[in-house]
Amino acid sequence: MGILDKHKVIETNATLLLILSFLVVTIGGLVQIVPLFYLENTIEKVEGMRPYTPLELAGRDVYLREGCYVCHSQMIRPMRDEVERYGHYSLAAESMYDHPFQWGSKRTGPDLARVGGRYSDDWHVDHLRDPQSVVPESVMPKYGFLEATLLEGEHIGDVMKTNGFVGVPYTDDMIEAARADFRAQADPDSDFDGLLERYGEAVNVRNFDGQPGVSEADALIAYLQVLGTMVDFSTFTPDASR
Ligand code: HEC
Repeated sequence: MGILDKHKVIETNATLLLILSFLVVTIGGLVQIVPLFYLENTIEKVEGMRPYTPLELAGRDVYLREGCYVCHSQMIRPMRDEVERYGHYSLAAESMYDHPFQWGSKRTGPDLARVGGRYSDDWHVDHLRDPQSVVPESVMPKYGFLEATLLEGEHIGDVMKTNGFVGVPYTDDMIEAARADFRAQADPDSDFDGLLERYGEAVNVRNFDGQPGVSEADALIAYLQVLGTMVDFSTFTPDASR
């Protein structure tokens, strides 16, 4: 019996074909998946990454609630046109504290993975209030109500704890100081030493929306202004051994 005839036996016997196909798929799947369980970490560690501050985390929640991801991705692909437009391609480590990640699948507006520091806070306030006032051809909706909605941050410690369950390294100290840090970051006249001690000197402490009180716009702009800025790409070199 030639090899083709042998195969004919399989092809003409539905049950046998089903069993053998199942075997092949199982082995193929195991080969792909099992090694992942034994790798210490599939994400290359990168210097500079830190968990979001309480204010940034609250801003991220506003971002999710408002569905900004419907029009904006947060992943710069390693292709020349993208890198020239948006900056260094995104690293896996840059979204390791994002639950859920915001890579996105559609760009009605530009990618926001590196929008941090690209515009002033005032620009963001104007743009959120009325996108067409700064970019006349914009189809982005208005979000002026965000600056009118004040936040107390009463649940932000719980949100941080929940992030802790899925691996974000918030310390007890960070969770305990959550509300104080939340307020301090939006008030440059406050005592924000503790905030910088916990999250690093590079944290932006500003009255983001320029108005008294901590608003949803303060939180959202604090979040936007940190996007893509944690890793210093002037010194970053990819680990080629991986
Ligand atoms: C209906 C689609 C849509 C939604 C929803 C949307 N945007 Fe936009 N966004 C755009 C478009 C289009 C642009 C480009 C024109 C402009 O700058 O307004 C843009 C631009 C931006 C920019 C400037 C980016 C750059 O690099 O110039 C930021 C920041 C931004 N959006 C933030 C947000 C945030 C935050 C939300 C949620 C509160 C949001 N967008 C929701 C469509 C959208």
